Amino acid sequence: MTEQKAIPTGQHDGGAPTRHAELIAWVEQVAGLVKPAAIRWCDGSQAEWDELSSLLVDAGTLTRLDSAKRPNSFYARSDPRDVARVESRTFICSENEADAGPTNNWSEPAEMRDRLNGLFDGAMEGRTMYVVPYCMGPLGSEASVIGVELTDSPYVVLSMKIMTRMGAGALDMLGDDGFFVRCIHTVGMPLTEGVSDVAWPCNDEKWIVHYPETREIWSYGSGYGGNALLGKKCLALRIASVMARDQGWLAEHMLILKLTSPEQQVHYIAAAFPSACGKTNMAMLQPTLEGWKAETVGDDIAWMRFGNDGRLYAVNPEAGFFGVAPGTGYATNRNAVETLWGNAIFTNTALTTDGDVWWEGLTDSPPENLIDWRGEAWTPATGTPAAHPNARFTVPAEQCPAIAAEWNDPAGVPISAILFGGRRATAVPLVTEAFDWQHGVYLAANVASETTAAAEAKVGQLRRDPFAMLPFCGYAISDYFDHWLRLGERADKSKLPGIYLVNWFRKSAEGKFLWPGFGDNVRVLKWIVERREGTADAVDSATGRLPVSGAIDTSGLDISDAAMAELLRVDAEVWREEAKASAQDFAKLGQVPQALLDEQAALEQRLG
Ligand code: GTP
Ligand code: SPV
Ligand code: MN
Repeated sequence: MTEQKAIPTGQHDGGAPTRHAELIAWVEQVAGLVKPAAIRWCDGSQAEWDELSSLLVDAGTLTRLDSAKRPNSFYARSDPRDVARVESRTFICSENEADAGPTNNWSEPAEMRDRLNGLFDGAMEGRTMYVVPYCMGPLGSEASVIGVELTDSPYVVLSMKIMTRMGAGALDMLGDDGFFVRCIHTVGMPLTEGVSDVAWPCNDEKWIVHYPETREIWSYGSGYGGNALLGKKCLALRIASVMARDQGWLAEHMLILKLTSPEQQVHYIAAAFPSACGKTNMAMLQPTLEGWKAETVGDDIAWMRFGNDGRLYAVNPEAGFFGVAPGTGYATNRNAVETLWGNAIFTNTALTTDGDVWWEGLTDSPPENLIDWRGEAWTPATGTPAAHPNARFTVPAEQCPAIAAEWNDPAGVPISAILFGGRRATAVPLVTEAFDWQHGVYLAANVASETTAAAEAKVGQLRRDPFAMLPFCGYAISDYFDHWLRLGERADKSKLPGIYLVNWFRKSAEGKFLWPGFGDNVRVLKWIVERREGTADAVDSATGRLPVSGAIDTSGLDISDAAMAELLRVDAEVWREEAKASAQDFAKLGQVPQALLDEQAALEQRLG
């Protein structure tokens, strides 16, 4: 790590460990604006990790967990006003408003730059500005993208070290004149004269701003994951989706799973579910069917492009998991629990009296005494959750006991099937196969899901979330649909992945989940894989192809025929309402491609 004292504006940055003149000039220029007390180039080394984690422990931001229980692991409590992504403060500032589309916040880029220049002026006073070079995707791969994040948060530096290939390797790969995405982040709390620091600095005012044409990201006022770790949603989805549109590939909010059948047939499956709707869980699924094996390639983001053989290949651009803690336990996700043995950061879980972490669902019954995510003493009688519902863990992917050997392969893995889903208490069957690619795009465009604690708005509200990309698509959603359609048109149809709509969350009249979910989801994957291999039967319904009765393997599962029938039921009356809602929502999404309007009309006709 190279440390420098404050550099007056204009003085040459001699300490930079790079000859990339543009990068050096940009760092200098930003420093001139944000006026840090020091600049530090991060190399991603263990020494740097040790030093910054100790610094954060001393500052009270991190608590070191008991090293015997969880070596090299830390606990952070955020400011209670900084616990999730802030969609209402997230902007796509394209030159033309139409390019951001109706689903993104937009403001005139020049106006936004003026505003942010004002806010960033002196924003890092009294703090160190860390220069964090990182790579999304395997180091050295042509498909990977380099970003450099300038941040005044050492918590962000540590998190970026886990979540990305961060430091010297990324800087090397960048070379003297390589392209990088410019990312600027500040917690928005300068340590001016008389101001003393707090454990979790942030600002009530928050801005998460993207300039798609210049591939820039400016983030102000938050330290929370998706708002502050700019490689993740900001670069790998919002900016990358724009690059993917321009260059003919796909940047998606998808897990990637490797599934091996008892006959040793390997299938890779990608699945898009909205935030906190089951990607990490499915990525680490432990099959409850004898002989099936599941391995993890990625749990949140997939970059996909067609290979020379005509198949669609997926790469996980991340190096770590930033996963939802509550609900993660031995019964639901053993692989995640075992991934978390050490080298992890936990944010907004509860803290145990013996220096470890706890959250709802980790064990069947809670410990007698905890410190909750707000820092208050907690007992089982307290009556509020000990962990915030969006409490998260940050941990290296390679620690996952089920990580697939090829998770790091720059060539990616060939995808057999793409799943789309959401939280739907009603209407949507356990699984539906699209008639073809175009119909699949229609199904994906109409995904709706009950909102979760991953974003700041109210939980449990049904909202349309096309492709699980509503908060993450960096351009007009109708153009995004068009991009998907066009890639399908150009592809060799026989090699396209099948598209499936799934729903693990359908409930009975009594409000109970009808489907056991988690490891039992392999039963649905088995049917999907058999469909790809041509050995399972389906029956056409108005909404798509459904498994014939008995086609989903329920051996060893305690589920009634009535529950299975309900799980696979397409109620025409309910679906006429669904179709009406889809048509209304399409009308709000701009110039939706004609092919999808045709699909809409065809659905209405099938429903009668
Ligand atoms: P992000 O990281 O926000 O993108 O979320 P994610 O899609 O990875 O969601 P995750 O797998 O972390 O799941 C979020 C919540 O859904 C957890 O509380 C899980 O316990 C719950 N969940 C996941 N899979 C299932 C399932 O199959 N059935 C049920 N009932 N709940 C599930
Ligand atoms: C999500 O909200 O979809 C996440 C967490 O995966 S964040 O990185 O905050 O976006
Ligand atoms: Mn996510």
